[in-house]
Amino acid sequence: MIKNIKTVLKTATAIAAMAVVASASACTDDDTDAGCPAGCPAGCPAPAGDAQTPPQGSDAVISAWITAGSYKGAGWKCETAAHDARSPSPHGKNRICSNTKLAQTAAPGLYPFGAASVKELFAADGTTITGYAIGLKLNDGASDGSKWYWYEKMGNSVVINGKGAKANTDVCSGCHAGAGTDAAHPGRDFVYTQVP
Ligand code: HEC
Repeated sequence: MIKNIKTVLKTATAIAAMAVVASASACTDDDTDAGCPAGCPAGCPAPAGDAQTPPQGSDAVISAWITAGSYKGAGWKCETAAHDARSPSPHGKNRICSNTKLAQTAAPGLYPFGAASVKELFAADGTTITGYAIGLKLNDGASDGSKWYWYEKMGNSVVINGKGAKANTDVCSGCHAGAGTDAAHPGRDFVYTQVP
């Protein structure tokens, strides 16, 4: 379990560099494609994104989608206020928003493709937003890292932007795989907090 945020960030940077090497082909449950590039089969969220779906790929496009406030729009459910990180989160003070597919999936159901969360990351004062994290489910079925697209940006630094690894060896999947595994890890199917 990675607890130290500096270790998390260092590992994530290394993984982000590796992700660039991965070639974009099809949207499969393996480690060979970057996400859901153009032409991926039906049953995957469109890479361009929409009001309910974070885009995949270019940081500029993802950042513009965030800045536009898309994740606070119609159908999204957001926590009312920033809260301290809930164990075992390394995210610091944060506020989580769930899109319709994520918010409306009744427990204990697995989340469908296109289910997404956006997390606002706050400075210790609880009012200044310092970054954003995104999780987007790419395929139906029980999760492994390759079913998730992860993005995190702190200030101007992109910590991670790409699909997780099937073996959950990337930093985000490695911890989110724990959701629902025991009493200390709430949630299910790689999602710790569902905002209903
Ligand atoms: C050591 C464990 C751990 C790591 C590593 C981690 N997270 Fe999380 N994450 C959590 C926990 C616990 C929560 C829910 C509680 C909280 O944030 O306070 C969470 C919440 C989230 C959420 C909101 C949806 C949810 O599952 O609750 C997103 C999105 C998210 N994390 C993205 C990421 C991304 C992207 C990375 C990799 C850069 C990452 N996380 C790394 C533990 C982790």
